[in-house]
Amino acid sequence: MATAPELLTSEPELQIRPMRTGDLAEVVAVERASYQFPWSEGIFRDCLRVGYTCRVVTLGRQVAAYGVMSLGAGEAHVLNLCVAGAIRCRGIGKRLLRSLLERAQEAGMGEAFLEVRPSNTAAIRLYLAFGFVQVGMRRGYYQAVGGREDAAVFRLALRAAGAPAS
Ligand SMILES: CC(C)(COP(=O)(O)OP(=O)(O)OC[C@H]1O[C@@H](n2cnc3c(N)ncnc32)[C@H](O)[C@@H]1OP(=O)(O)O)[C@@H](O)C(=O)NCCC(=O)NCCS
Repeated sequence: MATAPELLTSEPELQIRPMRTGDLAEVVAVERASYQFPWSEGIFRDCLRVGYTCRVVTLGRQVAAYGVMSLGAGEAHVLNLCVAGAIRCRGIGKRLLRSLLERAQEAGMGEAFLEVRPSNTAAIRLYLAFGFVQVGMRRGYYQAVGGREDAAVFRLALRAAGAPAS
């Protein structure tokens, strides 16, 4: 049996589950703390309403991370992927992205796309580790302090669900 100090220091359970309207206050708090130009609550609400794949990672009962992805015409678009600042670099972003890409494969998508600021080296390293390849640049795509910032466009070919690894 665990002693009291062990119980106090034990890690809360990590779960990945669909995002619900009731998560939005916590999601928006993480979003605001993470981005200089955050999505509004209305954008998340719309993503839920139109049926995008929206997932949260919970640690205990707290929302620790979330991802939003659209699926259609054979393409998955990862629109947002965010881990709360205090718990980054612990493999949570990797687990969440893997879960989104698995969902895209299950849904029969052939490829996944995403945009990222070229200055976001942490995210770019994550995407490269998954095998994403830069396929383009959208000029002036993002808001930035004092102007606009380009978006690097990344693509990953998805293996058909159930097909053997090549
Ligand atoms: C990008 C982000 C989602 C990564 O989440 P995370 O949980 O910290 O990442 P993980 O711990 O799963 O790391 C996975 C890989 O990402 C890369 N990575 C993550 N953080 C990094 C950092 N600070 N510097 C360099 N590489 C980093 C590494 O390749 C890492 O693999 P490794 O641990 O084997 O080296 C997180 O930094 C974040 O939420 N940032 C703010 C929001 C954002 O910019 N989202 C992306 C928008 S396109």
